[in-house]
Amino acid sequence: MPVTFRKLHPLFAAEVSPIDLRKVNDRATLLQLRDGMDEYGVLVFRNQPFTDAEQLDFAQRWDGELHAKLGSGSVAKNRLGNPALGDTSNLNPAGKIRDREDRHRLYSLANRLWHTDASFREPAGRYSMLSTRIVPPVRADTQFADMRVAYDTLDAETKALIENLKAHHSIAYSRQTLGFEFSEKELDELRGAIHPLVLTNPRTRRRALYIASHISRIIDWPLPEGRLLKNDLMAHATQPQFVYSHEWQDGDLVVWDNLATMHRATPFEDTKYVRELVRVTTLDIDYTPTDGSGVLPNSVTV
Ligand code: OGA
Ligand code: MN
Repeated sequence: MPVTFRKLHPLFAAEVSPIDLRKVNDRATLLQLRDGMDEYGVLVFRNQPFTDAEQLDFAQRWDGELHAKLGSGSVAKNRLGNPALGDTSNLNPAGKIRDREDRHRLYSLANRLWHTDASFREPAGRYSMLSTRIVPPVRADTQFADMRVAYDTLDAETKALIENLKAHHSIAYSRQTLGFEFSEKELDELRGAIHPLVLTNPRTRRRALYIASHISRIIDWPLPEGRLLKNDLMAHATQPQFVYSHEWQDGDLVVWDNLATMHRATPFEDTKYVRELVRVTTLDIDYTPTDGSGVLPNSVTV
């Protein structure tokens, strides 16, 4: 059955026609969904009652290799028992709401900074699939910004300036900007990765800004100058007219392309209400192209 898309924002993001993703296993449908992702950057699927195992299975059918959290330290330790399952909840291992001072809570608060998932890894994160388990009775939206529109609306000088620049992304850095502290061992595990500031989707040829709060520096630039450029690009990319705010409903699965969008969590009374979402992120294994098929840094011409 053909899949149809209903736009949720003037620029990007779409709701997909009714479908049970637990049963989708044919190439034709998966390719339609991938095309939809290339066009809209964010896809919303309603009524997807995934178990953890079903969500992992679907993510593998969609895009193969999965991102798994690094490290066995206290921060990365996973309540869900599988490093490929991202615990986007405010629950501790006993299933109780985390206290205000809980270290894991303070670490997760950084999801409220605009970011892309796993840009601090090589290969980087590609598609994230965030699935509801418990939706709180208050608004706790996830916001998305379109990085293709952000790139297209830069002025010509800025486009020329950033054409061949690269940035270092570090999850430790984005958290340190909030005053979160890491041990030496944790910092050693979280060294980050270097990626171009501009990427081209090889299927659509659309360019996108590849930025995030994880950017600690621009390679070969003085530190303060690079951080100012990053701040300017982040401010440009997250203007209100570029942002879609997703209000969660029971059963929602939201899938986004981390190479075409940024996202952030919004604040709610998280020491009062339970919010439980589970995230699986695929890796962009085509990131460094050897055969012209991958997502290309702009400096590579084909
Ligand atoms: C994530 C994330 C945002 C939210 O799971 O990667 O950034 O609203 N979540 O919880
Ligand atoms: Mn995220």
